[in-house]
Amino acid sequence: MIHARGLVQTFHTGRGKERKEVHAVDGVDLDVEEGEVVGFLGPNGAGKTTTLRMLTTLLRPTAGTATVAGYDVATQPVQVRRSIGYCSQVGSTFSGAYAGDEVVDHGMLYGMSRKDAVAKGQELFDRLQLDGLWRRMPKNMSGGQKRRLDIVMGLIHSPSLVFLDEPTTGLDPQARANLWEHIAGLRTEQGATVFLTTHYLDEADALADRIVIIDRGRIVASDTSDNLKAQVAGDLVDLEVSADEHVAVARDKLGSLAPDVAVEGRHVRGRVSRAGRAVPGLLRDLESAGVALDSIEVARPTLDDVFLTLTGRSLRDAEATAEATDPPGGVPPEAGATPSPTTTTTSTGAAR
Ligand SMILES: Nc1ncnc2c1ncn2[C@@H]1O[C@H](COP(=O)(O)OP(=O)(O)O)[C@@H](O)[C@H]1O
Ligand SMILES: [Mg+2]
Repeated sequence: MIHARGLVQTFHTGRGKERKEVHAVDGVDLDVEEGEVVGFLGPNGAGKTTTLRMLTTLLRPTAGTATVAGYDVATQPVQVRRSIGYCSQVGSTFSGAYAGDEVVDHGMLYGMSRKDAVAKGQELFDRLQLDGLWRRMPKNMSGGQKRRLDIVMGLIHSPSLVFLDEPTTGLDPQARANLWEHIAGLRTEQGATVFLTTHYLDEADALADRIVIIDRGRIVASDTSDNLKAQVAGDLVDLEVSADEHVAVARDKLGSLAPDVAVEGRHVRGRVSRAGRAVPGLLRDLESAGVALDSIEVARPTLDDVFLTLTGRSLRDAEATAEATDPPGGVPPEAGATPSPTTTTTSTGAAR
């Protein structure tokens, strides 16, 4: 569904001596198969939105190629736009008409008949729990309702591929959980392929079959959440022995499975890959050595552990750095509107 090779986006900011190149996306390869839900995870400023804007034809790649739904983003942008739904990070700009009318107009831009657009729109309002809001102006909706309306706009023409840029950023926990259900439903009920960006680890974990991690414009990992965690970090095993004299034996036994073992009081801790398979044997060993345990805890690594192992920084620190190095004024406003066959969007970066 998505195949990208060597995608690059270089922005030029400032003038004269202040002139600077920003390598927002620096050689990205991507393959997304039909029916996959892929989470594109990275700290703020990593290049997620820029990648998405290239894939959705809003921004011309500086270098590299991509096909989306079988069409080339550079030479067949209209076909690409017809085949996809896109919900931008900043949300759609609404004109001040009723929500239902906006949705129907939007569907008609994609060539739907009014009748079909109304039927599909009402079905989506129902499904996304916007029932009763057809004749409400978007400006009078809550944040969560507006975000769901964005998603209706992105889905009105029944695209088989949906791009969502930070779909739940800024929503309260309940609205997030609610939206997660709907996003999961896009595939299960509609068979759609979903490509979503997020800087929330739990969101990528909850929704995505596969996680692609981007940092500083480059892809640093791509795998299932479980495999990523298993490869790089190992599970944290924490043994609490019943008496001080057992500590040394426990350290030895755990040390045969974990590269580093730390001791704190009667706690012996280390990271063990695939602990679920290794721990039963460890327990038998300890028992036959006469070591009794007061407690044992096994904690799966988090995606933040993964990010830390891959980049040497925690995802949260990486965000702080990204923000600190942003030019004053931050990221320029995005071309907000959902792409439609009749809209063309230009931006400073695309004007070459
Ligand atoms: N139009 C632009 N002009 C100059 N720099 C930009 C522009 N858009 C994005 N950037 C910069 O490119 C980098 C990646 O931005 P972005 O793709 O928005 O990151 P993310 O979506 O992962 O937070 C950032 O350093 C950002 O400041
Ligand atoms: Mg972004």
